[in-house]
Amino acid sequence: MGPECFPRAVTLRDGTAVTLQPLKPGDMADLQAFYRGLPEEERMVLKDDVTTPEWAMRFMQRLGTGEVISLVAVKGGHIVGEGTLYRTFNGWMRHVGELRLACHRDLRRKGLGTVLASTLVKLATDLGIEKLIVQVVENQLGARKTFEKLGFHKEAVLPHHVMDLGGIKRDLLVMANDVSLIWAAMEAINQDTPLFLGE
Ligand SMILES: CC(C)(COP(=O)(O)OP(=O)(O)OC[C@H]1O[C@@H](n2cnc3c(N)ncnc32)[C@H](O)[C@@H]1OP(=O)(O)O)[C@@H](O)C(=O)NCCC(=O)NCCS
Repeated sequence: MGPECFPRAVTLRDGTAVTLQPLKPGDMADLQAFYRGLPEEERMVLKDDVTTPEWAMRFMQRLGTGEVISLVAVKGGHIVGEGTLYRTFNGWMRHVGELRLACHRDLRRKGLGTVLASTLVKLATDLGIEKLIVQVVENQLGARKTFEKLGFHKEAVLPHHVMDLGGIKRDLLVMANDVSLIWAAMEAINQDTPLFLGE
């Protein structure tokens, strides 16, 4: 799956049309506006404080090196969802990728999270990544369910591992799956709901 596959039109389960495309450096302000628009209780438990200029700078640097691949869903000229694939080129985790996802509240439960995740899994497969993980905080129910549906399973629980922006400590769940197994699970979902990949 290369750059020629984007922009990619996707119709969500309720008929909403969005476009999937890789994030460009010029989209950072819109991406941060999207994150600022997430409910505060959700932003509190994201791994990074994605609203700060420091985060934006680090994210852009890693986009430049290819350690970050960011796919955004755009509707009406604005970002309404983002999925990120993190990877490293060196070291003992060079076969592992990490996924993160966020969707606009108004577009939840329409398949957007699944389509972003499934597209990133396809990209990861093509890049030779063998294992994907996702780090989910105990109260991120939507994320846990979305990834379980894609075939991820709980691999570890790290008690009180996360301190949210308010200083509260929570358990962290590491969910994982082998890329080829996830892809098989997603093909099954796509057969049930063929609109997902907009093909
Ligand atoms: C995680 C998230 C991206 C999922 O997005 P989404 O577009 O709602 O996901 P989907 O519509 O593809 O849902 C996939 C499945 O997950 C399950 N699911 C999703 N949200 C759920 C919820 N709140 N409660 C129960 N099940 C849920 C459902 O089984 C759903 O399929 P179904 O609607 O056919 O039953 C979204 O909830 C979100 O942005 N959360 C806040 C950010 C976050 O916590 N990110 C996690 C960091 S990795």
